[in-house]
Amino acid sequence: MKRGLVIRPFEAEDADDVRSVVEAAFGGTDEVRLVDALRANGDDVLELVAIHEQELYGHILFSRLRVESRNRGADAVALAPLAVRPDKHGTSVGTALVESAHNLLKHADERLSVVLGDPAYYGRFGYTHARAAGFDCQWQGEALQALSWGEAPDSGRLVYADAFSAL
Ligand SMILES: CC(C)(COP(=O)(O)OP(=O)(O)OC[C@H]1O[C@@H](n2cnc3c(N)ncnc32)[C@H](O)[C@@H]1OP(=O)(O)O)[C@@H](O)C(=O)NCCC(=O)NCCS
Repeated sequence: MKRGLVIRPFEAEDADDVRSVVEAAFGGTDEVRLVDALRANGDDVLELVAIHEQELYGHILFSRLRVESRNRGADAVALAPLAVRPDKHGTSVGTALVESAHNLLKHADERLSVVLGDPAYYGRFGYTHARAAGFDCQWQGEALQALSWGEAPDSGRLVYADAFSAL
């Protein structure tokens, strides 16, 4: 991990810095609105920030995702968005955020995380399309990947938090 980098839970006073970093990373405000709406609706499960010398370098959010099938439903989490300040890309900030978040999620007994993103990046954390291929999802495809810790569904319909339908 980058020397002096602190990964800690999001706090209310980080909100403006998070908006700036997310907008800069994605080059637009769609993901900023997503973060604000997920939080406002109480759909955030885990939100962390990466701080270096009082400056916010990165942000990650996991929201509640449901896996619904005919006889049962299960809780999972969706990783989105992950953003690192563009001038700090490639300095392991993203890796530190993902790895810290995964440790916390495992300890909180979460079993399944799903991400829509570049397999070349998320593969390094153990996400695979194979693990997500059985889900019924509007974003089904190679970019849909999953990672499980212990027993978790491998089929069923993925129901994302409402804020995703505005994307
Ligand atoms: C994707 C992102 C979060 C990565 O954060 P980061 O702090 O730069 O990543 P790290 O330093 O931990 O990892 C860097 C490694 O990931 C690779 N990498 C970074 N972005 C990548 C991408 N989109 N696809 C594939 N590999 C990627 C780098 O080449 C580097 O590889 P190396 O370790 O073999 O040299 C950051 O680039 C970002 O904020 N991008 C814009 C927003 C975005 O696309 N978010 C993800 C949406 S799903």
